[in-house]
Amino acid sequence: MEVAKTIELVRSLVQAARSKGKKVGFVPTMGALHIGHISLIEAAVKNCDFVVVSIFVNPTQFGPGEDFEKYPRPLDADLKICRKAGVDVVFVPTPDQMYPSENLTWVNVEKLTESLCGQFRPTHFRGVTTVCAKLFNIVAPDVAFFGQKDAQQAVVIKRMVADLNMPLEIVVCPTVRESDGLAVSSRNKYLTEEQKKDAAYIYKSLQKCREMIEAGTTDTETIIAEMRKMLSQAPSIQIEYVSIVDAETLQNLDRIIGKVLAAVAVRTGPTRLIDNILVDAGKK
Ligand code: PAJ
Repeated sequence: MEVAKTIELVRSLVQAARSKGKKVGFVPTMGALHIGHISLIEAAVKNCDFVVVSIFVNPTQFGPGEDFEKYPRPLDADLKICRKAGVDVVFVPTPDQMYPSENLTWVNVEKLTESLCGQFRPTHFRGVTTVCAKLFNIVAPDVAFFGQKDAQQAVVIKRMVADLNMPLEIVVCPTVRESDGLAVSSRNKYLTEEQKKDAAYIYKSLQKCREMIEAGTTDTETIIAEMRKMLSQAPSIQIEYVSIVDAETLQNLDRIIGKVLAAVAVRTGPTRLIDNILVDAGKK
């Protein structure tokens, strides 16, 4: 496994693989790798001949007062995980490599970035789409793998790739959860025992939503009220949003119809946690 610290090196390694006819898979990450990331890497290794993982804590997707400085950066452990998983190249650029001067060019996906997390993190998705566009230009993969855990990110990236005719396929892999249902996240490291117990209510509220839809409830307000009630059983949890939206447009729904995304964002102590489920409620 090669560890590439420069854009030139990762480009030349990928070019060499491509010239041998290899299919190039790419998993962009911010490191602190866990079983959620590993599931994406495994999908890439299974479906591609040459796999690149990037580890870059991207400053432009963090807002003021968010956890950019505090974000965990256990590089040696991450490299070990990548080696074991069969990764060919880990791209670990410095912020100076990615942003050598003031960044004046941004990729901004409209509408899809306004709801859900976009309401609370107004510059977040602009940072994500811009860094992913840069990474796609640098790595030039055939396929890039993203997690359903960050559902809005996956929808936004797919739309960017479609709208800008980027020559790659986006594959979205299922959310990996802990045994109590909590979605695995690098930020779970911040949680106390008490907060971790409370965080399990996030998935419980999403399961409640699925049960209600499957039982035929179609009024989203009724479902959201029950989800909020479930979350209120967790004393340390403050709700940021509980939303039920169309899975493609991410617009709020009054009634359950078609493919819906139920999404929750909460804070427990200083930590922000998000999760979601997709439910297919049948034909529109
Ligand atoms: P990061 O939070 O490190 O996540 C990297 C990828 O892992 C994302 O596609 C995310 O959805 C996926 N992932 C995280 N937890 C997961 C879980 N429990 N199950 C399945 N997949 C999971 O998302 C980012 O980094 C950044 O925004 C990035 C795309 C790298 C751009 O900077």
